[in-house]
Amino acid sequence: GDDRVEYYRYKGISLPSHLATEDMDAIQDFAVRDDDVFIITYPKSGTAWLQRIVSLLHNDGDVSKTELKDLDELVPYFEQKCGDSVPFRELPEAPSPRPIKSHFQFFLAPLQLQQGKGKVIYVARNPKDLAVSYYHFHFLAPRLKTPTSWEQFLQDFVNGEVYYGAWHQHVLGWWQQRDNPNVLFLRYEDLHKNTKKQVEKVAEFLQWPVTPEVVEKVVELSKFQKMATDPTTNKVEGKQGKAGVFDSSKGTFFRKGIVGDWKSHFSDEQGQWFDTFYHDKLEPTGLQFEFE
Ligand code: A3P
Repeated sequence: GDDRVEYYRYKGISLPSHLATEDMDAIQDFAVRDDDVFIITYPKSGTAWLQRIVSLLHNDGDVSKTELKDLDELVPYFEQKCGDSVPFRELPEAPSPRPIKSHFQFFLAPLQLQQGKGKVIYVARNPKDLAVSYYHFHFLAPRLKTPTSWEQFLQDFVNGEVYYGAWHQHVLGWWQQRDNPNVLFLRYEDLHKNTKKQVEKVAEFLQWPVTPEVVEKVVELSKFQKMATDPTTNKVEGKQGKAGVFDSSKGTFFRKGIVGDWKSHFSDEQGQWFDTFYHDKLEPTGLQFEFE
């Protein structure tokens, strides 16, 4: 991160300047296909984990078909400029089914996707662990503002003054779509508790036939340790790393991968303030999270 990094507001959402307004506008008109698979998250919710699961399912758990490509080639990051290209401009040439990653709020997504065309796997994570993960990520990613302190970052996070705006708006916009047959709403904590069950859910939702052996392989190959040590999945050595999206001297993408790390960062006071804020937002909606 760098002091010169500037965010701007696009339809009320805070975005860094490398996400250009003309691209954001063009994305609304993107031609969605019925068999498109969008993995959509607020950053740090388990996106890479789902990228791995979906790309393995897509290849019957056969890493010999995926190992030469990194995650962001197998599941391109729709709106993010990487090198000279923005993936959504190249996707019209890609064969079906197209696995795609995006961090859009519901109302920023392609209109056809909003209208129910294509499939969306949305992953949500408890906001306390997410804030901690996002805080560390801001040091790793030079395109984002380096936090001056944990306290300051937490304020910015709650106020939506971070990349992709307010977490609760993001998660609640997609939560409202949970009964839409084209949307599968998952939680990071459930993936932890029973990865196999969630992998089966994903395969069923996509209507991709899988054998129990393939499910086992996918579960095994998408474990944190496996992904952290594999250059095709650890992000920092992949496409985004090479394009300067990450500065590997400042940290690692696969940091801890656990539930409950917030306890090592939040003071009691911060925890109470944060809980009250999100309780008010989430309670009326029925959306709940586990924090340990
Ligand atoms: P931490 O920073 O808490 O370790 P995203 O992919 O959305 O950017 O999310 C990154 C977070 O998911 C990081 O959290 C990362 O460690 C965690 N993660 C990635 N792959 C994982 C896996 N296979 N199992 C558990 N956590 C994983």
